[in-house]
Amino acid sequence: MADNGSSIIMAAPLQGITDAAWREAHAEVYGGIDVYFTPFVRIEHGEIRRRDLREAAPGADGAARAVPQIIFRDIDEFDRLTDALAGMGHSRIDLNLGCPFPPQVRRGRGAGTLARTELLEEVALRTQQLTAVDFSVKMRLGTQQPDGWRDALAALSAMRLSHVAIHPRTAQQQYGGELHADAFAEAAEAIPHTIIFNGDIIDAAGIEARAAMPRVAGVMLGRGLAARPSLAAEWREGREWPRSQRIGCLLEMHRRVFERRSGLSCGDAPVLASMRQFWEYPAAEIGAKAAKAIRKASTMAKYRAALELISEK
Ligand SMILES: Cc1cc2nc3c(=O)[nH]c(=O)nc-3n(C[C@H](O)[C@H](O)[C@H](O)COP(=O)(O)O)c2cc1C
Repeated sequence: MADNGSSIIMAAPLQGITDAAWREAHAEVYGGIDVYFTPFVRIEHGEIRRRDLREAAPGADGAARAVPQIIFRDIDEFDRLTDALAGMGHSRIDLNLGCPFPPQVRRGRGAGTLARTELLEEVALRTQQLTAVDFSVKMRLGTQQPDGWRDALAALSAMRLSHVAIHPRTAQQQYGGELHADAFAEAAEAIPHTIIFNGDIIDAAGIEARAAMPRVAGVMLGRGLAARPSLAAEWREGREWPRSQRIGCLLEMHRRVFERRSGLSCGDAPVLASMRQFWEYPAAEIGAKAAKAIRKASTMAKYRAALELISEK
């Protein structure tokens, strides 16, 4: 059996999907991932969101042990977030320089930081000073143009980083449209850190192709992993899992996520809402009929009946 062990495989953060329950269940049921990341921890109305901190607490996701990600608009937010996370015992922190969500970008967060040279220079200084923490970056190529990264190059180069994950789209493109392969190649060549490719990888061939690109040390899987949680494990084993195994594991992962989210919520409505999100990406894996019934399930009884439609054959 082939053993694809040499490339790094990271699980991308997906707000609303890859919470601690998802990460813990994924790590236990599938494995195959070297590093998980939490969705971004943020400051809202002047306070660090408590829920974000609870979700990012070391050990909250069991064996997954995700690296927390922060989003910030100035060095004060950066300091408060890194202090809080380092104070909780984290020794790695990922910096979000890529979120394309307009309200965040307008406030200068996420992809909005890429053009803010002074802020990035301050961040570079912090990465040099805070030697107890390993920092990494997750970024877009720019906000409007795929060469926006050039504005950030000097500061990025001065940062002490374990890697830079690049999603080769502009923020304006959100999550669709062409990936900018040429601009990615230029950025990967120019940025003097370990480079991770992120974007639109949905199968083993995609992992193979991206991991083989010049300067690329590994890949980060987002929606493709949410849709087919066995993706990394299948690639590592060098074989496609039969449908019965994929569905069996998916149902086991679901059972764990459901149990944990049920324990955290009061009432069925929030659990149903979050479980509908869980199934949003694996819809093709479970078939249109089951996916539609899950989307429409308005009560727990209907949700359970919808799950019965998922067949291992
Ligand atoms: C619903 C959703 C939520 C996301 N949340 C985050 C986030 O919290 N932090 C982040 O850096 N990226 C976030 N992303 C971006 C993904 O991590 C990833 O970069 C992007 O989806 C491209 O990779 P993919 O094609 O493999 O999904 C999110 C994407 C989606 C679709």
